[in-house]
Amino acid sequence: IEKALTPQDLAGRRVLVTAGPTQEAMDPVRFLSNHSTGKMGYAVAARAALRGAETTLVSGPTALDTPAGVQRVDVVSACEMYDAVVSRAAEQDMIVKAAAVGDYRPAETAAEKLKKGEGELTLALARNPDILAELGRKKRPGQLLCGFAMETQSLLENAAEKLRRKNCDMLVANSLRDAGAGFGTDTNVATLLFADGRRETPPLMSKEALADVILDRLLAMRQARA
Ligand code: CTP
Ligand code: CA
Repeated sequence: IEKALTPQDLAGRRVLVTAGPTQEAMDPVRFLSNHSTGKMGYAVAARAALRGAETTLVSGPTALDTPAGVQRVDVVSACEMYDAVVSRAAEQDMIVKAAAVGDYRPAETAAEKLKKGEGELTLALARNPDILAELGRKKRPGQLLCGFAMETQSLLENAAEKLRRKNCDMLVANSLRDAGAGFGTDTNVATLLFADGRRETPPLMSKEALADVILDRLLAMRQARA
């Protein structure tokens, strides 16, 4: 019913969204991760599907239900997310990378539970591949790429640099310091940065409403180019 009442302005488009944290295993019982709950990415996927897009959600471990009409692909680590996203990227019209991807993983994953010793433990970490940067390198003409950035300082400078470095068309910049933004909240406030230098800060709103604004802007860019 909700879909019947929603304008199908993304009908015929293929949208891929990533959401949630990644988990990088140290051993069979422990991992490195972050505070992402996946709410923002799930909201984007839910709205895209309601608006008629053929929607794929590549999700790290979350406690959320799969939104109606969304094809969900579950992954655990950044390397698994890389494979799941890169293998599906070519056919997408829009890719929205809301996931909080771990930058590092334990250099080795122990096959058995690590036992504690008397002294300190030093953990060697290996760099994970940057999925968004890879998508930016492989971007097809007409394909739109939207990244996210969560910062605690120099929000706009860092976000503008990521937008450029990863060849994004749009970047959603979140400050962990803003009231109503951040991990696990139902609302969000963000600044949208565009490749042509434009910036926009919508007012504080629900993650669903912000998801619609993000999709509106991507669709407008698509239509401006067509
Ligand atoms: N990202 C990604 N793959 C990674 C790391 C990040 O695809 N290995 C994506 C995120 O999904 C997000 C964007 O890149 O859309 C920015 O993530 P962020 O962590 O803010 O940027 P980094 O480039 O990792 O820089 P840093 O963490 O050092 O601020
Ligand atoms: Ca990072």
